[in-house]
Amino acid sequence: MEKTENTADFEMKATTLFGLEEVLATELLKLGAKNIEPFKRGVSFTGDLGFMYKANLCLRTALKILVPKFKFTASSDKELYDNMKLIDWEKYMKVDDTLAVDAVHNSEFFNHSLYIEQKTKDAICDRFREKTDARPSVDLINPTLRIYVHIYKDEVSVSFDSSGTILYKRNYREDINDAPMKEVLAAGMVLLSGWQPHLPLIDGMCGSGTLAIEAALYANNIPAGIFREGFGFMSWPDYDEKLYDTIYEGAISKIKNSTPNILANDIDNKVLDIAKHNSTVAKVDDSISFSCASFFDLMPDKPMGTILLNPPYDERMKLDDIKSFYKQIGDKLKKDFSGWSCWLITSNEAAMHAIGLRPSRRITLFNGSLECRLLKFEMYAGTKKLHKIKPVDDNLDNSQK
Ligand SMILES: C[S@@+](CC[C@H](N)C(=O)[O-])C[C@H]1O[C@@H](n2cnc3c(N)ncnc32)[C@H](O)[C@@H]1O
Repeated sequence: MEKTENTADFEMKATTLFGLEEVLATELLKLGAKNIEPFKRGVSFTGDLGFMYKANLCLRTALKILVPKFKFTASSDKELYDNMKLIDWEKYMKVDDTLAVDAVHNSEFFNHSLYIEQKTKDAICDRFREKTDARPSVDLINPTLRIYVHIYKDEVSVSFDSSGTILYKRNYREDINDAPMKEVLAAGMVLLSGWQPHLPLIDGMCGSGTLAIEAALYANNIPAGIFREGFGFMSWPDYDEKLYDTIYEGAISKIKNSTPNILANDIDNKVLDIAKHNSTVAKVDDSISFSCASFFDLMPDKPMGTILLNPPYDERMKLDDIKSFYKQIGDKLKKDFSGWSCWLITSNEAAMHAIGLRPSRRITLFNGSLECRLLKFEMYAGTKKLHKIKPVDDNLDNSQK
């Protein structure tokens, strides 16, 4: 691969979940990215090689960091193949390296993403075979080079995936409950809530503890990717190990040893054990207290704080009477948590209404394939104030992107 000048800035695209674009843009700004521009399910930005390492190591709400490399037009499979074959792939990989291709398209000229992936692999392998009599092989799990092809109409863009394994795989979750939440979504919820680590936080139905653990990692400034075995860029020929070590040491030196007031609670002792175990792997067990109780029996010991709730949706995790369960949540918040704000995520529309409180924010997010709403309830003392809050539907903002 061509040696990139370490100090030269280049374009990158961080992908994320729908609804987390603005939080990711804010994370990038704080980390030092330039030319930040959110788009649907991602944010483009510029930075140098060291920043690419830092983005992979530190971002909490990114799924992958792509580096756009080539652009051309193609309106047929043949044109796609021919143009792919013209790229001097031998600059970027060796014949005994492995590759994987992921493709996404929105184009009348192409039928299946799988076919685009196949054509791309064929072009690369044929080029190598013609030049060397040998061809690279495919490794879908752990390739030397993961290539991302995006086609919109006849515009083809080819990027290299610098992350490798998707970034929500943080490596601290050795065990999960029946309906765990992706780490990136949990981090997004923590950041969207605006929780400040000097105030208490309750993950009231914590399952495997993802929300509480992401909150603790954030509170202690622990880089999100610190427990990973590596990143895609580490197998690129231009990998600068010394530079990565410097970035890594810099990030480690900013870790705080704070004692945030985080409570992870679940009614089920078995899943609570999973949450405890995962928090130990993530080295934040001393930042979280655990309790096994019904959320409906919890009582706050502080006048204000943040509650994050990921209750069962009646999808993967069934409930006898989902509406009365959610009504109980609303009643509990009203009765015992005045002064607190609660962020609740659910995909169940009917249950959402049964809460009986008016949300001050409503954000569309996806938990896996489930379209969800993240609702914010501000529990002012007295019902009058509550009804004066004008609901803000953040979907409007998202659809304008
Ligand atoms: C969707 S899961 C939470 C998943 C979690 N966010 C994670 O990442 O693993 C819902 C959790 O709510 C818990 N739960 C159900 N009813 C509860 C109650 N009344 N009080 C506390 N927890 C409850 C279940 O045991 C389950 O672990």
